[in-house]
Amino acid sequence: MQRPAFEGPWKLAVRPYGPDEDFRYGSLMMSGNGYLGFRGGFPDFRKEEYAGCIVSDTYDCADGKWKELCTVPNALFAEVRLNKRKLSIHDSVDSRAGHALDFRYGETSGTASGTDGDLCMNFHRFASFPHLHCVWQRIELTSETGCRIDFLGGIDADPWSLNGRHFRTMELDRESGLLRADMVTSESGLPVSVVSGLRIQGTEPGPELHRERTGLYLVLELTVPPRRSIVIDQCMSVYSGNDTPDPGAAALKDAARGMSAGFDTELMKHRAHWDGLWQKYDISIDGDEEIQSLVRYNTYHNVIATPAHTDHLPIGARGLSCQAYQGAAFWDQEIFNLPMYIYTDPPAAAGILSYRYHTLPGALEKAKRLGYEGAYYPWISGDSGEELCPDHFFIDVLTGRKIRNHFNDWQIHISPDISYAVWEYYRATLDEEFLRTKGAEILFRVGQFLYSRVHYSPARERYEIIRVLGPDEYHENVDNNAFTNYQTCFALKIAAELFRRLEREDPDHLAKLSSRLGLAPPRVAEWEEMAQKLYLPQPDPESLLIEQFDGYFRHEDILPGPLAERLQKESEYWGWPNGIAFATQVIKQADVIQLFALHPFDKDVIAANYEYYEPRSQHRSSLSPGVHALVAARTGNMPRADEYLRRSLKIDIADTHPPDSGGTFIGGIHTAACGIAWQIVVKGFLGMEVSVDELRFQPRLPRGWNKLALSLRIRGVRIHLEARPDSLSLEAEDSAAAGVSVLVGEDRGILKPASRLVFNGKFVQ
Ligand code: BGC
Repeated sequence: MQRPAFEGPWKLAVRPYGPDEDFRYGSLMMSGNGYLGFRGGFPDFRKEEYAGCIVSDTYDCADGKWKELCTVPNALFAEVRLNKRKLSIHDSVDSRAGHALDFRYGETSGTASGTDGDLCMNFHRFASFPHLHCVWQRIELTSETGCRIDFLGGIDADPWSLNGRHFRTMELDRESGLLRADMVTSESGLPVSVVSGLRIQGTEPGPELHRERTGLYLVLELTVPPRRSIVIDQCMSVYSGNDTPDPGAAALKDAARGMSAGFDTELMKHRAHWDGLWQKYDISIDGDEEIQSLVRYNTYHNVIATPAHTDHLPIGARGLSCQAYQGAAFWDQEIFNLPMYIYTDPPAAAGILSYRYHTLPGALEKAKRLGYEGAYYPWISGDSGEELCPDHFFIDVLTGRKIRNHFNDWQIHISPDISYAVWEYYRATLDEEFLRTKGAEILFRVGQFLYSRVHYSPARERYEIIRVLGPDEYHENVDNNAFTNYQTCFALKIAAELFRRLEREDPDHLAKLSSRLGLAPPRVAEWEEMAQKLYLPQPDPESLLIEQFDGYFRHEDILPGPLAERLQKESEYWGWPNGIAFATQVIKQADVIQLFALHPFDKDVIAANYEYYEPRSQHRSSLSPGVHALVAARTGNMPRADEYLRRSLKIDIADTHPPDSGGTFIGGIHTAACGIAWQIVVKGFLGMEVSVDELRFQPRLPRGWNKLALSLRIRGVRIHLEARPDSLSLEAEDSAAAGVSVLVGEDRGILKPASRLVFNGKFVQ
């Protein structure tokens, strides 16, 4: 397998192109903008090479089992033939041949060369940010000696699709010099249209139309003059009926607009847009070039997975890199992807949380269906908030039988995780408007759910939470999962706290909201009591260990390596009910360690638990290494922080996670791992913690890092931060009304409006 490598600070490339790696490179080199994801790959790639453009908000169920996003026809298809032979990357022997992504601007490129003659093709593609429905492609053909070629370009209407064909009808046509494909999705009946524009620079004879059953193309013969290139520009536009009532007309108009503006103008606007994004999200690291590129690469994927243009859509667990995980959100969204936006781009963060507000009806319906009150958020959430997670997610690969996983009805921590995120957003922004209009309803509805789900044990005189799945998905049907209990307690407390505050500060608003939610003060008093008496597994006085769930320590104590020897097939699912890990202490991912990423604990407790749980974790979830890096960095465990930082940042590039598990395809970009990159640096190495009245740092830079620079936006103040091994400087850009109280180690200072604060003390190493 050919591993991709960085070429300079902003480019990932694979040279030579490895055989049979089309799927992986397609995800790694993709270009996207939060509305669509155009997979990497060469212009002549078809479904066999996993060519696909995944479009948000097109959920459809083609095979009776999975709702997923559609891949739409490829309106940037292009094929070049020399002497009747296709120019293909798979046959290219030239040392320049390869595939790359410039992740500063989301530009996919590639070079392929002919086997006979000296014809060389470069292509360059980007999913426009200023025009979200548009993807551009430029092909340049060069030849030393000159040659005649056959060119075919247009719409390949038979794209790769993971779970069945998503279009029940398809019409292909030519209109106003553009090609169009109009489809209707199989189950949801959603109209989708793509339009393709083509321009060849120079004066070549007009192309002819070539129609196939699943494609519509323009064909022509071209002369490539010696030592001069010919340039072919293609523009694709895509709309669905969820964007506009007449997607065909919108796509035609958009493509025509694009064609008249031209590739160069559109690229310039697109780059300017990215420059603006990087001003908010970039982390600049001086002293470790590899980590620098990796952090940016991961941030790029977090950004292109986020539908920042709307507050009605989720961030998919695989972004828009492919259809795996149904283009839907998990808890990954709030705990892994969102925090970067909370501290750098509050409007984008508010949009992501608003999505959970808009999908409350789905969460209410799920709670009701399962016999609870309030909002039980779906484990897998698409556009509407209905539970998309099927009862049978995996199969037993030994027998072919379905496994009943209880992700959808027992993994309750999703609801308090969302409350946690609302509060994290509020602490950083003090956005009262959001809290009152949307946040309060989320917190109260989750409070109602938790109240109906938590159980009182008269024998133990405490509240408990039984029959759950914590973050470690190998152990289903456990009682008192520490992570879930702490998150629940936190969510009940903040809901009650907000209720009390509104009682004092905004009783009219509260009265209206409470009456709509059927919520009365006595119930809130019960939340308070429940939070107080909820069992929170405590560190053992001697070992300091927190038991992951009741009885965990009684399970067989074996490590993942030796346990793996019991597998009969590599792709077996390790968890409930018959997997090899289920009756052991081997865990899928951070669970108690995940708790430390969100709640304060003594350093000694964290260290003892880290030593215990880290070797027992298989890190089979891509969420796990990043959390281990963050917690290790925050507690000064620098060797582990470094190890897990690299491991997390390289999950996709080094291909550490097989795309299949328990017979289910879960490949593509691991968006949560991409999202946590920013957090590892800021919450981990800088030790940033934000409370309602202060901003704390406990910086410990990894060996070799000379300087770390980034921007934050806290309480509306844009702060430029620069950390060096022995100093930290914060500069407030805006002349905001109030200063921000900052604590660095033991030093305290006030960051005044439009001023700079420097700490020169020696920080803890
Ligand atoms: C993990 C979950 C995660 C999901 C989506 C699973 O493998 O165990 O924690 O939410 O993948 O990333």
